[in-house]
Amino acid sequence: MRSTATEPLLLSESRDVQERFKEMIGETLSSIFRSFSDGSAFSGIDPNDLREEVRGLGFLPEHGRGFEAVLKDTEDVILPHLLRTWSVDYMPHLHSPALTETICSELIISCFNDSMDSWDQGPAATELEESMVHGLAGLFGLPEGTSDGCFTSGGSQSNITALIAARDWFCRERLGWDVKADGLPPEFRRLRVYTSEISHFSMDKASHILGMGYGAVRKIPVDDRCKVDIAAFERMLDEDVASGLLPFCAVATFGTTDFGSVDDAVSMRRICDRYGMHLHGDAAYGSGLIMSGKYRDRVSALSLCDSITIDFHKMFLMPISCSAILVRDAELLKCFELHADYLNREEDEEDGYINLVGKSMQTTRRFDALKVYMAFQARGKDGFGRIIDTAVENAAYLYGRISSDDDFIAPVEPEMSSVVFALKSGDEVNKRVRRLLLAEGTVIGQTVKDGRVMLKFTLLNPNLTHETLDSIIDRIKTLGAEVERTL
Ligand SMILES: Cc1ncc(COP(=O)(O)O)c(C=O)c1O
Repeated sequence: MRSTATEPLLLSESRDVQERFKEMIGETLSSIFRSFSDGSAFSGIDPNDLREEVRGLGFLPEHGRGFEAVLKDTEDVILPHLLRTWSVDYMPHLHSPALTETICSELIISCFNDSMDSWDQGPAATELEESMVHGLAGLFGLPEGTSDGCFTSGGSQSNITALIAARDWFCRERLGWDVKADGLPPEFRRLRVYTSEISHFSMDKASHILGMGYGAVRKIPVDDRCKVDIAAFERMLDEDVASGLLPFCAVATFGTTDFGSVDDAVSMRRICDRYGMHLHGDAAYGSGLIMSGKYRDRVSALSLCDSITIDFHKMFLMPISCSAILVRDAELLKCFELHADYLNREEDEEDGYINLVGKSMQTTRRFDALKVYMAFQARGKDGFGRIIDTAVENAAYLYGRISSDDDFIAPVEPEMSSVVFALKSGDEVNKRVRRLLLAEGTVIGQTVKDGRVMLKFTLLNPNLTHETLDSIIDRIKTLGAEVERTL
């Protein structure tokens, strides 16, 4: 079969193919680097103009135009307006730049395109993921021998996985009901999961997907440091149990999305034990602190959790997607075990072939563990520790700077690397300042606290300096004053 374009169809052992592929990679890198116009995070293009340009690209030509033509269009229209996550002017979300060695890992992952569902689709990939999962369980203080885990597509999927496992465990142990075989138990309307009112919305999504609906998610109030109010949590449980509800799981957030606050998981563990509940630790944000010699205590209570969400595409600076769910007891993930003659035969497993599909919601799955392996080996714990410490200390610096400036309010002292604050001049000024910064190529976040519009810096980039932070704050003050005059 001949391709209409000049490019080889597939990689192969042919020298010619390899030489051409190297050229294609080289050309791609040249296009990427040419698009780095300046240090800013974004071109600032208006959304309507961008829509028009992108629609002009077309969809599916009758005849292929070849790699070079499409690379040129991509370079001209798409690359200039991609978000440049490595820029020090990018700080709105828990969305990180990628460490260079992990971009190389992505190339390996795509070249081989192994899949994680069965051993015969990714022999070394399966063995490396297993090895990394067990290493991670040890790193986060889960018991050797019983703990287990699996890579997932992101924090949301890790959280959903944890809630499925917790629900099925509770129904089996407490209600004598097998959800896998028989669906939801008759009592399903009384099942409840407890999480802080500012936890990630994947809890609500999970509850919907689990067939329990948003109503099954009980939102615990937070205190003035944005942590679960433990007394309120206990009161809720007492009342709920007295009224016949069935609390099966609590979620401690280790780094809330906006504030980076960490719930008191030690108290939550005690309470969960009293009520026979599963404790899940959502450390999608905060898991990176485990690498820090200085700040790891802030997340050490993860070792008390029954399951843990870790995201590598946040503080660990790895390319999307890369996340894992860890469990204290491997039995918890058995709810995903299912055998098919065409995929994961039991006889193969008995002979030592591991089929990871038995622990996962997904079937075909990427070899994301390679990124973690390569980055961990390349940088070591101390290398990651320096990255994390920089992020945490930049946030502490920024908070100090803002809270000593009369133009701002900064309601919560950061424990991780996010700072939420506002110009005192009001919601409209803050909103407009953020939009103006966006048009200048500086991308910061926006959220709401106690009904007030807030600005947010999520500091993940280890290249950020105090000088850069100072200059953005100065710019915010200048823009704020200008906007105020026009209102
Ligand atoms: C605390 C927390 N949990 C879960 C998630 C979801 O992670 P993902 O976007 O990888 O699905 C986020 C995302 O920001 C988060 O902040």
